[in-house]
Amino acid sequence: MQKRFIDKTVWISGAAQGIGRGIAEFFAEEGANVAIIDIKEKEGKNVTECIKSKGGNAVFFFCDLNVEALIHKSIEDTVATFGGLHIIINNGAINMVKSLHEYSTAEWDHQLNINLKAIFLSFKYAYPYLKKNVASSIINIGSVSSFVGQARTPGYIAAKGAVMMLTKSMAIDYASDGIRCNTVCPGITDTPMLREHMGGESEIAERLYRVPIGRILQPREIASSVAYLCSDDSSGITGTSLIIDGGYLATAEWEGGLS
Ligand SMILES: NC(=O)c1ccc[n+]([C@@H]2O[C@H](COP(=O)([O-])OP(=O)(O)OC[C@H]3O[C@@H](n4cnc5c(N)ncnc54)[C@H](O)[C@@H]3O)[C@@H](O)[C@H]2O)c1
Repeated sequence: MQKRFIDKTVWISGAAQGIGRGIAEFFAEEGANVAIIDIKEKEGKNVTECIKSKGGNAVFFFCDLNVEALIHKSIEDTVATFGGLHIIINNGAINMVKSLHEYSTAEWDHQLNINLKAIFLSFKYAYPYLKKNVASSIINIGSVSSFVGQARTPGYIAAKGAVMMLTKSMAIDYASDGIRCNTVCPGITDTPMLREHMGGESEIAERLYRVPIGRILQPREIASSVAYLCSDDSSGITGTSLIIDGGYLATAEWEGGLS
């Protein structure tokens, strides 16, 4: 295992489970100080204990991404704990399944606050620290839904499309500060969110018919690309969107899984 993030501090939202957890564990293995940011206290603390038991360095900070003051506090607590901040991973998200006319105004705001506005806020409060470094990185987690639609998830789709464009805007405006900003777009990945929104194994198998590699992705397969885009190995890359989907978006008429 490489150790590309020694003396680097990474703030990761939604790191108590799923892809965020995978990213947290990957960065810890590569030597980073990891701030686990989540609303799920028990699961978040469990991740920090797992990381520490393997010799890594991690702290959990409770934060509801719907609350600006808590995002601000989690950034300040991270800097106070580790003495700096180099990488922000905006991963935390929710997915409300309903048609557009069924949303209440409050539900729409909630969906967009967590999946989009929290990215603005984490950056707003992290920027003074990120610009102090020679090189800093931001990864915003998009989705295959940054590129294509999906039934009955209008708020999620709208936010994921916007995440990709916001990333480009950030990449342009902060390149002169040494801050790179990229989107990582996962496909069907085995996490609690996926399992919550799929009926069960048969529905997952049905979805996988459309995936050329024919299997569900693991959080670690997303994490390794996130780490690449935050490391010096990708020093020339900013404003891009890296799709990790087993070929899902490459296909218009794929029926290989059905044959
Ligand atoms: N799993 C997939 O197939 C898939 C596909 C494409 C994109 N993604 C994206 O990957 C990211 C991670 O998804 P996942 O599948 O691991 O989801 P998950 O639901 O398993 O994990 C998301 C984490 O975000 C946290 N979170 C949710 N609301 C929060 C809030 N208000 N404040 C703080 N934390 C909050 C949750 O507690 C949870 O720990 C998301 O951005 C998601 O949109 C996932």
